[in-house]
Parts: sequence; C-alpha cells; structure tokens
Amino acid sequence: MEIQVREVPGGHVEDDPVWALIDELGQSDWVRFTAGFHLSSHVLAAYSAGPLPLGFCRYVVQPVGPDTGCPPFTLQGQAVHEAKILAFGVPERWRRRGVGTALQRAAIAAAGTKGCHQIRSHSSGENVENHQLKLRLGFAVHPIVRDDDVRGCYFILPLPPRG
Ligand SMILES: CC(C)(COP(=O)(O)OP(=O)(O)OC[C@H]1O[C@@H](n2cnc3c(N)ncnc32)[C@H](O)[C@@H]1OP(=O)(O)O)[C@@H](O)C(=O)NCCC(=O)NCCS
Repeated sequence: MEIQVREVPGGHVEDDPVWALIDELGQSDWVRFTAGFHLSSHVLAAYSAGPLPLGFCRYVVQPVGPDTGCPPFTLQGQAVHEAKILAFGVPERWRRRGVGTALQRAAIAAAGTKGCHQIRSHSSGENVENHQLKLRLGFAVHPIVRDDDVRGCYFILPLPPRG
C-alpha cells in the first residue's frame, strides 16, 4: 500500500477530517494539550488512495528538559531542542500495513529539518505494538515508572548532526 504523509495545516486540526480519527482513538486531549515551553505544534496525517486519513501523529518542538521539570539543557549557551511525539495512532482496521511506520519516519524527517537534536516519546506499558514499532525504527529505550505503570518507557532517537 502506498502511503503519503502530510502535515495538517496549522491551527485547523479540529476542522480537518483527521479530527474524527483522533477522537475515535481517544487521543483528543493529547492533541489539544499545550504547555508554555512548546515552541511549535504539528499534526501529521497519513493517506493512501482516498481522501480520508488512515492514522495520525502529533509532535511538538520544545527545549530538552522543561517537560520533566528540569531547566533547559544547553550547549554553549544555546538551548537544545527536541521533537516530542504526544499522540500517535492508527485505527485497528488500518494496522499492520506500514501506516504507523510511515508516520514515524515523516516525524523523524520533519524534526531534522526543524533543528531538533532528538525525537522522543513516552509510551505506557500496555502499548506493546508501539514498543515493537519503535525498536524496529532504532529508538533507544529508557524505562520509567509512572504511578502504577512499571512497564512504560521513553523512546529516544538521536537525529544526525547538522553540518
Ligand atoms: C502503534 C500503532 C500506531 C502502530 O500502527 P501500525 O500502522 O499498525 O504500525 P505498522 O504497520 O507500521 O507496524 C510496524 C511494526 O510494528 C510492529 N507491530 C505493530 N503492531 C504490532 C502488534 N500488534 N504486535 C507486534 N508487533 C507489532 C511490527 O514489528 C510491525 O512490523 P510488521 O507488521 O512488518 O511485523 C498502532 O498499533 C496503534 O495505534 N496502537 C494503539 C495506540 C498506541 O499505542 N499509540 C502509541 C502510543 S500513544
């Protein structure tokens, strides 16, 4: 299946057909969530032949550090930025056809063009499909305990250094 990934025009996500999919996957809160340290926010949607999206991914560009309560991590006085994926999903009827992988690859490529040092996300312990997908793409795993979830983790992929 040929898959194309496009960014949903900024500020119009709730008016876009992708919103029904986000709602169906129960991830609307994670798409609406904002924080003062977010520098920009982006929603990517995957398509095949038709006009309706098959999956989505939302990431923000932010300094490394503040979302875990740390000060911004700096290099020679400059804050280091990352892309953080806050929401990501493909409905069951479209799974195991490469849609999720295409969305992650598009997010990785976009993060590189936005000057990010790394791309990162948190996954709860129950999201084992996502764990498999992330390892296949080469992400490192950093386990973390959150409340009673002892199998959750951060996935982090360093991006190639820019010139
Ligand atoms: C995670 C998710 C987005 C993957 O979407 P997808 O389109 O099915 O992913 P892909 O088809 O690109 O799968 C890529 C690889 O991931 C792994 N994978 C995906 N689903 C899997 C499953 N159910 N069991 C084992 N491995 C799985 C496989 O290695 C797969 O490659 P393969 O099909 O060649 O074996 C989808 O399962 C999903 O929406 N899950 C629920 C929400 C979620 O976990 N979101 C992420 C955290 S917020």
